[in-house]
Amino acid sequence: MYSFICDYSEGAHPRIMKAMTDACYEQNDTYNYDAHCLHAAEMVKEMIGRSDVDVYFMPGGTPTNTIAIAAALRPFEAVISPNTGHIEVHETGAIESTGHKILMVESPDGKLSPALIQKVLDGFEDEHTVRRKMVFLTHPTESGTVYTKAELQAVRRICDENDMYLYIDGARLGAAMVAEGNDVTMKDLPELADAFYIGGTKNGALFAEALVLVNDKIKPDFRFMIKQRGALTAKSSAIGIQFEELLKDGLYFDLAKHAVDMAQKLAAGIAAQGYGFLSESPTNQIFPIFPKELIAKLEKEYSFYVWAPVDERSAAIRLVCSWATPEEEVNKFLDNLKRLAAV
Ligand SMILES: Cc1ncc(COP(=O)(O)O)c(C=O)c1O
Repeated sequence: MYSFICDYSEGAHPRIMKAMTDACYEQNDTYNYDAHCLHAAEMVKEMIGRSDVDVYFMPGGTPTNTIAIAAALRPFEAVISPNTGHIEVHETGAIESTGHKILMVESPDGKLSPALIQKVLDGFEDEHTVRRKMVFLTHPTESGTVYTKAELQAVRRICDENDMYLYIDGARLGAAMVAEGNDVTMKDLPELADAFYIGGTKNGALFAEALVLVNDKIKPDFRFMIKQRGALTAKSSAIGIQFEELLKDGLYFDLAKHAVDMAQKLAAGIAAQGYGFLSESPTNQIFPIFPKELIAKLEKEYSFYVWAPVDERSAAIRLVCSWATPEEEVNKFLDNLKRLAAV
């Protein structure tokens, strides 16, 4: 059964596995002080055009979000997230476990806007309510949508006007960067965000995220924060090697482009068969709407999530392509869709 369930299904790109294997007998320093992490951090700084940031390599998205948010906020401060935000829906209360409230706002397309953020700001009274101190957004969003640079600048502005941090979760950042219509560059990110991360695990790495701290206020004692929450990886060279390889020769963007190209080919083929979509996604996740009987037939041949009910007869499913999705599987899915819809 072929899986379109997520972008974690395959191992890692062979170049990454080879680089890790080549380093089997190498002796390295530990806990992010190894030569690979130090080198990869320089590569990140060069890519984003800033030498004054701190870069930390982390083993996964949830600890990255949790630690960055917990480090930035004082005990009575809260983070604003769209209702679809990963920290709100799929992180098991990790943020709340650090003592910080998530203030959730309904978003029609997974994005936050100044108007939506203002709704949450309006709820602030005084020391009887939590202070709104951070905006969390995901680029691309969990709905597959991407922000324009102007939209991110508008969010930045409302953050500045209200003394709030902007944190960007980039679990699928590569997919946003190569998406059609994207006008945000890697060099824009440190201008827009106080902290953000560059996701590797969903884009060819085995386990690797690069967290970038831009705002000096978030930087102090960060290694203590990482260690206390169990994410200061002892054999950190394993993460450094993965990022060195991803950032060499543009592999990171090549892999993201493959994932996005496959998903967009899937989307075009599905649209050509007359189906609509829950959201306009130019990235590697798409959300087609199918009749429920067709979904039941597809489930016998493919793995995917049934994402959201649409009406009594139909629902949206999520199909995700990865750096490793073969084009042949995309073609087969489109053929099978036509066959199953006809029986
Ligand atoms: C937007 C986003 N952030 C973070 C993560 C990382 O989550 P996890 O720690 O479960 O890998 C994911 C993974 O699904 C994600 O989609």
